[in-house]
Amino acid sequence: MSLICSRSFGSLGSIALSLSFIFLSACEKNSGDANAAPAARTDQRSALALGSDPAYPEIDIPPVWASDGKLIQPKDFREMVFIGAPLTPHGLNDGKANFPEFHNVYVQPAAFKAYRATGKWPEGTMMIKELQLVDDPKGDFPDGSRLLPSGRGYFPGPVNGLDVSVKDSKRFAATNNWGYFNFNHAAPPYLAEAAVKPVEQCAGCHIANAHEDMVYVELYKPILDPLPVAKK
Ligand code: HEC
Repeated sequence: MSLICSRSFGSLGSIALSLSFIFLSACEKNSGDANAAPAARTDQRSALALGSDPAYPEIDIPPVWASDGKLIQPKDFREMVFIGAPLTPHGLNDGKANFPEFHNVYVQPAAFKAYRATGKWPEGTMMIKELQLVDDPKGDFPDGSRLLPSGRGYFPGPVNGLDVSVKDSKRFAATNNWGYFNFNHAAPPYLAEAAVKPVEQCAGCHIANAHEDMVYVELYKPILDPLPVAKK
């Protein structure tokens, strides 16, 4: 934008500095698409107000519930904080992995910051797990891996499903304060909303096995832990 402005007004070199300042600020205000980035930033800032839902005072992007108690698919979850990507490909599970994809896990920015500060997930935390297939399930090798110039491995392919867990001690007291939702295990579009899953399908395994507060948090610690400060 400033480039366009300086081009349009570059020939006005004789105009006094104060005048060109007025032109430039008008330019800032009026340019359309070219100014999209700052406008988007403003939108994001307003979405990041803590406690926009009083039920979740520490959360910036709260879970949204339909009147029948279903969870509405979290909007723009890929813009949240990415905390890890466990991978359980068919090639390492006799071709029978239940979830043969990368498990890309995201959490709201405020929940991420709160966990770093307190070691606890606040009410309204959403753990969002988008499944992403490996790019060529047959691969170059019997285990489905492939060779790229970087080495032999598993590489990201199409996305293939969405699971969400929500911490809410009022709604989900019976399952250690977390509810579990599946928005489909297939290519998008994912379901617009999902009902809580029965304990034996989801919460039971997290109750029995998760590391801390129903979350497999050790898998995310490498990103949850702040980076050490670089020495100058
Ligand atoms: C048999 C055990 C088991 C069952 C059943 C299960 N999970 Fe999990 N879940 C895990 C494990 C282990 C991880 C972490 C490792 C991984 O993703 O492979 C995980 C991770 C997650 C995560 C990422 C955050 C976290 O807690 O680490 C979400 C979200 C999730 N599961 C949702 C669900 C949903 C929704 C269901 C039911 C449809 C479900 N899970 C059923 C074992 C289970």
